[in-house]
Amino acid sequence: AIQELRYDGQTVVVTGAGGGLGRAYAIFFGSRGANVVVNDLGGSFKGEGRGSQAADKVVDEIRSAGGKAVANYDSVDNGENIIKTAIDNFGRIDVLINNAGILRDISFKNMKQQDWDLIMTVHVRGAYKCARAAWPYFRKQKYGRLISTASAAGLFGSFGQCNYSAAKLALVGFTETLAKEGLKYNILCNVIAPIAASRMTETVMPPDVLASLGPEWIVPLVSVLTHKSSTETGAIFEVGGGHIAKLRWERAKGALLKPDETLTPGAVALKWSDVTNYKEAEHPDGPANAMEILEAAGQLPPNNPGEKLDFKDKVVLI
Ligand code: NAI
Repeated sequence: AIQELRYDGQTVVVTGAGGGLGRAYAIFFGSRGANVVVNDLGGSFKGEGRGSQAADKVVDEIRSAGGKAVANYDSVDNGENIIKTAIDNFGRIDVLINNAGILRDISFKNMKQQDWDLIMTVHVRGAYKCARAAWPYFRKQKYGRLISTASAAGLFGSFGQCNYSAAKLALVGFTETLAKEGLKYNILCNVIAPIAASRMTETVMPPDVLASLGPEWIVPLVSVLTHKSSTETGAIFEVGGGHIAKLRWERAKGALLKPDETLTPGAVALKWSDVTNYKEAEHPDGPANAMEILEAAGQLPPNNPGEKLDFKDKVVLI
């Protein structure tokens, strides 16, 4: 038998659901039995202006297909109002998708504080405000699913987007911590770095590439992660155009030096190939174990100073 992943009786809040990825999520959840809160401020992709049309249109689409949806026009910076819309209309919240976003691309040299602050407000404080308002409900019912939206720009950097990159990587740390705090309440938190055609990307990618990067190819991963059957939490996923992959941290082999007066810059320079050795790497779930390190390092002999031959003279770096 074929069975759909369903969300009957659950309430899903999607921020920035008036267009792009958010609209695709909202329509999907509406088609799978969920009550959907379609939030959208309705401004431009640079965060100017506002309006109710974007959200209303998506609500109409969901309703005319037989689904249940209500609109909310608040900025995510007023996240408590968005969650209140869910509670007032449907009595609960089960899934929150932090998706709303804007761009203020500009080289670092020309960046104004307003470009920085607005990006931080919408992406970071907005995600915080919405999650903070949903959290007590998640805890009380011992159930919650939270998705936040990072970006390749945050994971790898991107010319002209230092504000956006900083904000997007902030959501990775945010997610990693909430995953830990939510675990015993069955609140699962994950972060995606999507790539898809939307008004945000239509000017930076060629039309033939955009044509194969539909927002609908992001939806299935988000569906799996937010379903009640999921156990995945604290993870980062790259997703777009049919490609889905989990990402994790990598720690190089590393150098271990005795922490005494012989731990000089020259001694570090000598060990540089170990510090950067990814051939013998590990994939850690947490920071290096300080107690183990101190014990092992304490038993080492004093460090060698860095030595190199400079013409005829031996130079000792310390
Ligand atoms: P989009 O511009 O089509 O959708 C974003 C929506 O958020 C818009 O409808 C906008 O009105 C709404 N919004 C903006 N500020 C808001 C606020 N303060 N409160 C409530 N709603 C607000 O763009 P797209 O591509 O669908 O982006 C969705 C998310 O995915 C964003 O967080 C974006 O940064 C992220 N993303 C998208 C990528 C892509 O390739 N499209 C790449 C990496 C990340």
